[in-house]
Formats: sequence, structure tokens, C-alpha cells
Amino acid sequence: MTVARVLLDAGAAPLRERFELREGGPGATREQILELVPGSAALVADPTVPVDAELLDAAGPELKLVANFAVGYDNVDLDACRTRGITVTNTPDVLTEATAELALGLTLAAARHFSASEADLRAGRWTGWDPAAYRGLELRGATVGVVGMGRIGRRYAALARALGAKVLYSGPAAKPDPERVLGARRAELDELLEAADVVSLHAPAKPETRHLIGAPELDLIGPHGVLVNTSRGSLVDEAALAAALAEGRLGAAGLDVYEAEPGVSKQLLDAPRTVLLPHIGSATVKARDEMARKVAENVIAVLEGASPPNPVT
Ligand code: GLV
Repeated sequence: MTVARVLLDAGAAPLRERFELREGGPGATREQILELVPGSAALVADPTVPVDAELLDAAGPELKLVANFAVGYDNVDLDACRTRGITVTNTPDVLTEATAELALGLTLAAARHFSASEADLRAGRWTGWDPAAYRGLELRGATVGVVGMGRIGRRYAALARALGAKVLYSGPAAKPDPERVLGARRAELDELLEAADVVSLHAPAKPETRHLIGAPELDLIGPHGVLVNTSRGSLVDEAALAAALAEGRLGAAGLDVYEAEPGVSKQLLDAPRTVLLPHIGSATVKARDEMARKVAENVIAVLEGASPPNPVT
């Protein structure tokens, strides 16, 4: 079997005991992965590895499983897998806490201008305590809009609620549990964007969610609003976001994901009131080890003829 790039030892060790493992390593290029896969029964991918018809065909008819080392699977062409009878699995649940906590951290960091104020201090521009400087938004009493009340959105909502925020949410289905437990209220996206002080994105990347947040939506969030994205970069029109920040039409942004990772546009790098992290939502020791273990469980199940615990196809 093949690990396109890297699988942490928590997952790689049990796989090595049972199977011959070919590993691309952290710097594996597309060409190297294409050369590695022929004849593999399972392929471990991650968000940096596009799994498309070309790669599946390079693997050949023995390929039974694509095990994605992530909860998101927009890097995998599900139709191409289905037509070839290939199972796809992901790693849900074990990264919910880590990602929701990061979203809360980004909310606080963007709302309170952590990056700009720290950069001033480091550059020697801090001239002393200033009652007017770096004033931001307090979460107690604020309205937080959760776009996508899935597992991570639900946990983020609970954390924001614990700090005293009111919760609105939008999404394809009503969610009785957060309504009952957190007092969350479902709203149309436009109503949510207009009412919320903080908008946090927790929806999957799909054609329907591409540029869900563009210029008109950013204007609804407004000059005092904070946008947080820990889901996928494609949900936000990044050029429109950078322009809204530069022109003062959006209050602040906290981002962990980008449209063309690992590339981040110069406009966004230069945008004011912005906290930018390098896609570290699930990067806790616990979550990443559990994700790796889940990958191994899914591979072992499928290659031993059982049903995988986390199928997405
Ligand atoms: C990471 O981005 C994931 O989807 O798990």
C-alpha cells in the first residue's frame, strides 16, 4: 500500500506490521506519487494530495481504498472513486475539539488584534499603554454566526456560548440539539451575516459552497464584523476579502485556510486587521495521533475484508 506523503507513526506503525508500506515523504511531488501508487491496494492521502482519475488509474485495478488523513475530502474525486468501486474514508470526530478550539482562538486573536499589536511590539513601535489603541470586540453579549452547524460548528458554538455570546446558525438542516442546549437560532445566511458580530465558517468545500462569502456577503458582515475561516479556503473569495479589509469594509479576519494553499496572496498578506495561520486546525498532538490511528483502522478494515468505520462513499 502507499502513503502518498506522510502518515504519523500512530497510524503508520500498525500498518507496517501488516503491509508493505511505500511512503512518498513530506516533499513528495505529484510525479513521485504517480510513480509510487501502481499496484497499491490502499492509498493514504491528505488535503495536499489531489486524488483524481489520473492517480486512480495510475494505481490500477487493485486499488480498493483511499483513506484520507483529514475530515474534509474535497481533495478526492468521489465520483471517480465510485465508478471504480473504490471506498473512500476520512477521520471525523477526533479533530472536532482541536479545530473548534483553533476557531475560537482565531476569533479572539482577530477580534482583539493579536497579530497587529504583537507585530508593533516586536518592531519597537509600541510606545506605551494607550487607551485608544487596539480596541476590539468582546465576545460576551456578541452575536456569533456559525455557518454550518456540523460537529465542529456545534463545538465552536458551545465554546462561544460559554463565553457569553449569542449563537445564530445557518445550514441546510435545522439542528434541534444546539437550539435546545445552546439557544442557537437558525437564520438565512444573509440575515446571519447582517446580525452577527463574528461569522465563523464550518461548512464543507463543495461546488455549492465555493465563494459562499464574496463581496456582497462581506459587506453584510460589515466594518465592525469579524470573519473566521477554519474550513476550506474555497468558501471565501479571497481577493474580495483582502479588498474589504484594505478598504475598511470588514472589521477583521482570522484565517487558517486559503484558496491556493500553500500560496497566500500578497493582498491578503498585506491586509490589515488579519490573523493568518498555516492550516493548523487539527494540529494538536492528540488529534493528529488519533487521526493517524483512524486512517490505520480504516485501511486494516478494508484490506481485511471488513466494513471501514468511516466511509464517505
Ligand atoms: C483538515 O483540513 C481536515 O479536513 O481534516
